[in-house]
Amino acid sequence: MNSAVKGSTRESQGLRLVNDIPSHGSKNREKFEDIIGQSVKMQEIFTLVEKVADSDSTVIINGESGTGKGLIARAIHKNSDRKDKAFITINCGAIPENLLESELFGHVRGAFTGATSSKPGKFELANGGSVFLDEIGDMSANLQVKILRVLEEREFEQVGGSKTITADVRIIAATHRDLEKLVQEGTFREDLFYRLNVIPVEIPSLRKRKSDIPLLVSHFLKGFNAKNGKDVQGVTNDAMNIMKEHAWPGNVRELKNMVERLVVLKGEGDIDPLDLPEKLRGKGGHSELPSMEISEDGISLNTAVTDFEKALILESLQKTNWVKNQAAKLLRLNRTTLVEKIKRHHLQPSHI
Ligand SMILES: Nc1ncnc2c1ncn2[C@@H]1O[C@H](COP(=O)(O)OP(=O)(O)OP(=O)(O)O)[C@@H](O)[C@H]1O
Ligand SMILES: [Mg+2]
Repeated sequence: MNSAVKGSTRESQGLRLVNDIPSHGSKNREKFEDIIGQSVKMQEIFTLVEKVADSDSTVIINGESGTGKGLIARAIHKNSDRKDKAFITINCGAIPENLLESELFGHVRGAFTGATSSKPGKFELANGGSVFLDEIGDMSANLQVKILRVLEEREFEQVGGSKTITADVRIIAATHRDLEKLVQEGTFREDLFYRLNVIPVEIPSLRKRKSDIPLLVSHFLKGFNAKNGKDVQGVTNDAMNIMKEHAWPGNVRELKNMVERLVVLKGEGDIDPLDLPEKLRGKGGHSELPSMEISEDGISLNTAVTDFEKALILESLQKTNWVKNQAAKLLRLNRTTLVEKIKRHHLQPSHI
């Protein structure tokens, strides 16, 4: 009985690797081969990225942690005329203050104690290519001044040097912080903000593009199966529904890490709800209710209401240890109505 239910539900909505799904519209397939996204919002981002890639305009990518800002930055470079030149990342929150200038602009021999030979900085290494200013919301005041100057004058000098070097670079910036708020609070320079904020790209959180979840899971399953010599076949319908309801505060990174763990631990067969981490299954506290958020892609009201009903029934059963009389009382239903609904939703004690 158990496996029959699994079999039939999996075919209707779960995930089978044999039914390979293209990662995005075929038009964009090659250009963004490692970025998965079929949702309307991600398709819009691919179109925008294609449009702006060839220009030298500064792009600023906003999005919560783990949404794929780094991937999009690289895709912009790879789709530009600068693709055969360097893509150099500057992690703006991580450069020690005393090395700042030399890291960015390089130094000549003898510029300071220990400078035994001259060394090019990041802007020089990126010449002809792109500079990716990552985590710009974490720039120190000092770094903000230095970067602003390069952006304005497109020129710089090495530490200790007298020759002026032209910065032929395309700037791509990213942050998970609300820069406008930082400007209002006085920790981010307004002039730098306007210099950077030429073409903003907003990457939505994963919970706002749930339709991408099955594709991402399929992509990561394949990758981690191959990497680890495992043979996980797919994900049951019930497990996929739980994944779609999770809020994914760590976005795609959190999903990717979870799939890696599942592949390594499960090794073969289908991922079912019991394989999922407890925080997804909502064990312990009350069961997780489906989100009330209407994502960009819209929702089906009927499905959402059904999911809500299912979640509330599960919670009542969890609270009463599957004593149906008591669960029915909690929901102010007749016992027979509850039993009917339990059947309709294919609920079993293993779901809790
Ligand atoms: N659309 C996607 N398709 C495939 N993999 C993705 C996608 N988005 C993110 N990833 C993967 O998720 C992980 C996190 O992505 P990335 O590092 O680009 O996020 P981020 O937004 O830069 O995060 P942070 O703000 O923490 O730096 C990476 O391993 C990346 O390969
Ligand atoms: Mg990043």
